[in-house]
Amino acid sequence: MVKTKTVFFCRNCGAEAPKWLGKCPACGEWNTYIEETVYAKSNSGKAISHKENSVPLRLSEISISDEIRMDTGIREFNRVLGGGLVLGSVVLIGGEPGIGKSTLALQMALNLKKEKILYISGEESTRQIKLRAERIGLSNDNCFFLSETLLENIINQITHLKPGLVIVDSVQTLQDDTVESSPGSISQVRECTVKLMKYAKESFIPFILIGHITKDGLLAGPKILEHIVDTVLLFEGDHQHLYRILRSTKNRFGTTAELGIFEMTQSGLKEVLNPSEILINLNNEGLSGTAIGATIDGIRPFLIEVQALVSSAAYGTPQRISTGYDVRRLNMLLAVLEKRAGFKLATRDVFLNIAGGIRISDPALDLAVIIAVLSSNFDYPVKKNICFSAEVGLSGEIRPVSRIDQRIREAEKLGFKTILISSGYDKKSFASVKNISIITMSRVDEAVKYLFASKAN
Ligand code: TYD
Ligand code: MG
Repeated sequence: MVKTKTVFFCRNCGAEAPKWLGKCPACGEWNTYIEETVYAKSNSGKAISHKENSVPLRLSEISISDEIRMDTGIREFNRVLGGGLVLGSVVLIGGEPGIGKSTLALQMALNLKKEKILYISGEESTRQIKLRAERIGLSNDNCFFLSETLLENIINQITHLKPGLVIVDSVQTLQDDTVESSPGSISQVRECTVKLMKYAKESFIPFILIGHITKDGLLAGPKILEHIVDTVLLFEGDHQHLYRILRSTKNRFGTTAELGIFEMTQSGLKEVLNPSEILINLNNEGLSGTAIGATIDGIRPFLIEVQALVSSAAYGTPQRISTGYDVRRLNMLLAVLEKRAGFKLATRDVFLNIAGGIRISDPALDLAVIIAVLSSNFDYPVKKNICFSAEVGLSGEIRPVSRIDQRIREAEKLGFKTILISSGYDKKSFASVKNISIITMSRVDEAVKYLFASKAN
C-alpha cells in the first residue's frame, strides 16, 4: 500500500499548503486553494531516470558545445525561439482555447520533413488530426500520431520510436499513474512536466508542450510550469481578427524580445514576414482620423495604422474607448492636448483603434495617436506619405524614442516620404538616409501647426 495524503494547492501560483487557506501567502490571491490527493513521498523522475548518479564538476571540467538547434521549418517560430529549437529543450506554448495552438504545432510537424516526429494528442482523436491536416493541406510520412494521455505509455512510445521531436497537445490532458489526482490538476501537470523535462534532458529530444491558459492569463493555472520548462511562448490574438502573435515570455536559450506574427487563413496559419505591409492601408489616404506610427515590438520595427474617431458626447460623461492601446495613456495624451495645445476635447467622445487587433505599448506611438485624434476632430486628413515616431511628454514636448534609425529605415523601405520625429537626436546619425525626409520637432503644437495649419487657428 502506498500512503497518500491530502494537500492544498493554490490555483494561481502553485504554492502548496497542508491545510486550506483563504488567502494564498505566496501570491496574495483569495480563495484559490484546492484540495488534491498526492503520494506522501513524491517519486518524481524515478520511473524514467536512467542516468548514473551525477558527480560535482569544476567549471573547467565541464565541456560545452554550442547548443544544437533544429530548424522548425517555420521562420517566425525559429525567430521567436532565438534561431531554432534547441535539442533537449522543453518549449511550452500557451494560449487561450481556439487561438490556433494545435494548428501551429501540427503545421510545424508536417513541415519538418527531415526529422521523425511524434505528435501526441490527448485532446483530439487521430481522425480529427487527419481532418485538420487535410485542411492545412500538408502531409508528411515522417510524422507519427498518437492519441494517448497516460505518461508511462507515452514515454514507452517515445523510447521505442526515437523521434527527433515530440509534440504534446496538451499538458493538461497528461496523466501520471503514480500521482493520484485527476488530469489537469496542479500536481498532475507539474509531475508530468517534470518527468518529460528530465526525459528531454537525458535523451536530447526537444519537446513542445501545449498548455491552455486560464482566464486570468496564467499558463495552466499553476505558474509553476513556467519555472520548470526552458522556454515559454504565448500565442495570442483577438478572436475577431485574423492576426496571431507568438511572443516569448521566458527563453533560456535566447532573447524574449522577439515576436512572430501569423495570419489565420482557411488553410492554416500563414507567416507574416513583413507586418507593415498588412498593418497599414495605403488606400486610406484622404480619410480623416488615421495616422501611421513607426513602432518596434521586440526587435522588429513595423508601421501600424492608428485610427481615431472623435464625436460629440451623447451623454454627460464623454467616452474614452481604446482597442489595442492603453486607455490611461490615451487619457493622458488628451489632457496634454487640452493643456498644452489648447484643444478642448472634454465634451467629446474619443474612440481609438490600432489596426489588425494588435496591442501596442510602445510609447513611440504617442504622436501618431495625437495626430489621429486631431485629424478626426478637424475632419481633415493627415498629409500623404507621412508617418510618426515619437513619445509625447506631459509638458507637450516631443521626446526621442529608442532605435529611431531602425524605425526610419522601415518607413523608408515602405515608401514613406516623410517621418516626423523628435528634435532630440544627433542629426549626423541620419546622414545615410536618402529616400525619406526627416522632420524634427520639439513640441506638439508645432506638429499640429505643421499638419493642420488651416484648421488649428
Ligand atoms: P486550434 O488550433 O484548434 O486552437 P487551439 O488548439 O489553440 O485550441 O484552432 C482553432 C481555430 O482555428 C478554429 O476556430 C478554426 C480555426 N482554423 C482556421 O481558421 N483555419 C484552419 O486551417 C484551421 C486548421 C483552423
Ligand atoms: Mg488544441
